[in-house]
Amino acid sequence: MKEQLGWSKTVRSLVKILTGRPRIPTSLKDNEMLRVILKRRSVREFRAQPIPEAEFDAILEAGRLAPCTVNLQSWTFAAFDATQWREIFGQGIPFSGSRAVIIISDTFRYRQVISEFPYCPLTEYTIGVMNASLAAMNMNLAAEALGIASVMLSETGRSGILDAKYLKEKLGLPDGTVPLMTIVFGYGRGARPPMPPKLPMEQISLHGMYQPSDPDVMQSWLEQMIAGYSASHPGSTFRKQLDLYESKIRQAEVDLNEMVFYNHEGGNSTE
Ligand SMILES: Cc1cc2nc3c(=O)[nH]c(=O)nc-3n(C[C@H](O)[C@H](O)[C@H](O)COP(=O)(O)O)c2cc1C
Repeated sequence: MKEQLGWSKTVRSLVKILTGRPRIPTSLKDNEMLRVILKRRSVREFRAQPIPEAEFDAILEAGRLAPCTVNLQSWTFAAFDATQWREIFGQGIPFSGSRAVIIISDTFRYRQVISEFPYCPLTEYTIGVMNASLAAMNMNLAAEALGIASVMLSETGRSGILDAKYLKEKLGLPDGTVPLMTIVFGYGRGARPPMPPKLPMEQISLHGMYQPSDPDVMQSWLEQMIAGYSASHPGSTFRKQLDLYESKIRQAEVDLNEMVFYNHEGGNSTE
């Protein structure tokens, strides 16, 4: 992967980002739900304005009512205000958010009453991740509909899957649970960030057999990622971010193996 783009490629890539728009038929552009979904951006700058209790409760309720396999509700939501977050983690909520929710995949709870469930850790973990992530997205969109911005975090400030072991210790989580991400909520400050480079529909949708994506389109996307990252993170680069991920992913792989294939009744997944 090329780390530096020339000046003209950088400018061209930034123009592509800034002119990117959601593609929906004009006849649907006033649909309220679509408007909320398409307007959503990950926001990383928040005002010091608190989120009222009722609004935060409504966001959590949207998570509680999310769809899930066999209605098992394999999730736990650890909810915080800034004071509670500081008490546990010794620092403020990332990006000075007003509230935060750690989304936890939880196959421990239903096993309390459905103990005869077969121990199939990888499948159960995957289903837990699916369900909890849907709950996260429900909360994210509920917030957006209430004018509250958010960002989901997998590592920033040790807040997600890449620091799952640390979070598990901090929150005293039992086997069968895996913290996946933190959603930080707050009222956004300044203009919304532009839509980051999204791959065209033709590259990500399938009509028949799988086809590899067009290399030129993928290269153009990568150049936009490199240019966009440098523009929005002065002093950092997309490469540096990937390097950080790489170093954290290696450790997370070891930790997650332990957490997913935990010592179930003294046995293991093959028994
Ligand atoms: C599961 C998940 C984890 C994420 N982790 C981080 C993170 O650790 N730090 C961060 O700044 N953004 C994080 N993001 C936000 C993504 O960078 C963002 O969603 C992506 O760039 C697309 O931008 P958009 O949300 O504005 O469409 C995460 C998003 C998701 C869904």
